[in-house]
Amino acid sequence: MTTHKVALLAGDGIGPEIMDEAIKVLHLVEERNEIQFELTPALFGAAAYFETGKSFPEETIAACDAADAILKGTIGLSHEESKKIPPDEGPERGALLPMRKRYDTYANFRPVYLPHSLAHFSPLRPEVIGQGIDLMIIRELVGGLYFGTKTEGIDDAGRRYVHEMLEYNEEQIQRVLKVAFDLARKRKKVLHNIHKDNVLKSSLLWNTILDEVRVDYPEVSVKHVLVDAAATNLCLDPTQFDVMVMENMFGDILSDQCGGILGSLGLMPSACVGPTKSYYEPSHGSAPDIAGQGIANPYSMIGSVAMMLEMSFGMADEAANLWQAMQSVFTDGYSTPDLARRGDAEHIITTADFGDKVLSKLATLPTP
Ligand code: IPM
Ligand code: MG
Repeated sequence: MTTHKVALLAGDGIGPEIMDEAIKVLHLVEERNEIQFELTPALFGAAAYFETGKSFPEETIAACDAADAILKGTIGLSHEESKKIPPDEGPERGALLPMRKRYDTYANFRPVYLPHSLAHFSPLRPEVIGQGIDLMIIRELVGGLYFGTKTEGIDDAGRRYVHEMLEYNEEQIQRVLKVAFDLARKRKKVLHNIHKDNVLKSSLLWNTILDEVRVDYPEVSVKHVLVDAAATNLCLDPTQFDVMVMENMFGDILSDQCGGILGSLGLMPSACVGPTKSYYEPSHGSAPDIAGQGIANPYSMIGSVAMMLEMSFGMADEAANLWQAMQSVFTDGYSTPDLARRGDAEHIITTADFGDKVLSKLATLPTP
């Protein structure tokens, strides 16, 4: 029997309640397959800060170091609450970014997927959605403005200033582009390269490297789109895209826009892949306004389990079963309140009900 070690970082806000559903799913996956998960819960984010004074404490680092993969919930506090934590210890700067850096998780996969049967969740008109949306954002995750040199001070004229550098070297660009080309080759053989080379030097280097990398992928056609135009085109016709690749900050913004196109970031799990370790997380935040009410949508969290099964543990077929089980909850007419407003769900259900329904459906699907 194979054992996979998974560190569980439930985090803040709705994190613990959606993580509970992910754990239920992991237990059923164990029962259905010849595998075992060794689950190690650890404190992360603001919850960790209030308990230990650190948002990424040593014990959590040790649990993550020892794990084969990391499953993360959500982090973050309301604007008011976040003032109780010094800025550099906050859940984002103190925990999430250091974790990305530590495991060098440079390739962030954000699937933007809405099958035809769920098209009613999108605010876009049915004729725009057509047969559904199925694209993948590949976002560079450990470079650019997020990790560049930062300096603050007072200039000669006595004004406060800040310098925040957008830094990339060719190796960082090359490796994420290879991930994107590999994926494009497996999918529709089209890669949309998102950049801003009419202004940014970093995009000029990015595109030079792209021309070097693409030589190894003659079957993939590259379409260059400026990032601002990409934002417009995503609204006008998201179905024209398949694999999109971009630097860190562009990816942060466009992936949230895609959440809006789907109808909710609650429909976007993600995988953050590094050379030796990957972590999996919903693309959405911790929704402190609804935390503890049992109404959060666990789809992105459970979807992150599906991505972990496929990408870290080679269980693509069971991952596909899980996707099918999750979607069937919606197509059977159930949903958590976030999507019920827009969709035609007859029955509004709780976080735990959603998880239970996924389990019942998964249990009926043949094991791989
Ligand atoms: C995301 C989030 C993070 C980011 C925050 C929480 C630091 O918005 O994963 O998209 O900006 O990368
Ligand atoms: Mg974001």
